[in-house]
Amino acid sequence: MPRVKGGPPPHELTEAEIEELVAAFGRAAGRVKEAGFDGVQLHGAHGYLINQFCSPASNRRHDRWGGSSTRRMRFLEEVALAVRDEVGGDYPLLIKLGIQDFVRDGLTLDEGVEIVHHLADWGLDAVEISCGIGGTSSRKDVLRPEDEAYFLPQARRAREATDLPLILVGGMRSLKVMESILEEGAADFISMSRPLIREPDLPNQWREGRTEPAACLSCNNCWPGPGEYGIACRSHQVGS
Ligand SMILES: Cc1cc2nc3c(=O)[nH]c(=O)nc-3n(C[C@H](O)[C@H](O)[C@H](O)COP(=O)(O)O)c2cc1C
Repeated sequence: MPRVKGGPPPHELTEAEIEELVAAFGRAAGRVKEAGFDGVQLHGAHGYLINQFCSPASNRRHDRWGGSSTRRMRFLEEVALAVRDEVGGDYPLLIKLGIQDFVRDGLTLDEGVEIVHHLADWGLDAVEISCGIGGTSSRKDVLRPEDEAYFLPQARRAREATDLPLILVGGMRSLKVMESILEEGAADFISMSRPLIREPDLPNQWREGRTEPAACLSCNNCWPGPGEYGIACRSHQVGS
C-alpha cells in the first residue's frame, strides 16, 4: 500500500494483525448487510490487500500466510469464511478477483485459476474476473471490437475451473461483443465501469433499442488530474 505522508513506515503484518484484519472484513460485511445492501463483493483484485496476499510479487512471507501459492491464498480463504459466517448462508457474496498480475514475479494465470477453483468451497456465490495491478486493469484506447473484452482469455480459463456464475469486466463496449461472450458461455454477466462514468444510463438506452457501442474513449481521464477533484468523464468529446 502507498505510504501515507507522515504515517508509520510499513511493516510485515503480525499474526495478530492478520487475524484482526480477517475479523474486520467479517464485521464490515455485517454492517453492509445491516445497512440494507443486497450483497457484498470482496475486492480481491488490482493490488488491494487480498490481491497483495495472493500475489508472490508482494507476499514475501514464509509463514502460514505465504511461501507457496496455497499459503498465499489463505488470507482470502479466511476472509471469505469470516464474511460468510457473519452474513449467513443466504446472503449474496461475490468477489472481484484478479487472476493474473502482469507484473514481475506477480500472480500467474495458472495460480489465479487455482484460486478460482476454490471459491465455491469458501462460500462465494459468484466471481468477477479481472486482472492487473494499477493501470493495467483499466486498459486504454479500447476503440475497436477487437480491443474489447481484454480479459476474455483469462475468463475462458476461469470458466474451466468453476461452475460459479462468472462476471467479466474490462473493455466491454459493444452489444455484439458482449452477446458473443454470453453466448459462448465464457461469462454469465457483463460488468462495465468507464462507460457508465460517461453514460450512466447506457444499459437503459441499449434496452430501448440503441445499437451503437458505448461512447467511452477509454482514455482514463475520468481519474482526477492534479488540481482536479472526483471521478467524472473529462473527455473533450463529451456531448458531441
Ligand atoms: C476512475 C476509475 C475508478 C475505479 N475504481 C474502482 C474501484 O473502486 N474498485 C474496483 O474494483 N475497480 C475500480 N476501477 C476499475 C474498474 O472497475 C474496471 O475494473 C476497469 O476500469 C475495467 O473496466 P472498464 O473497461 O469497463 O472500465 C476503477 C476504474 C476507473 C477508471
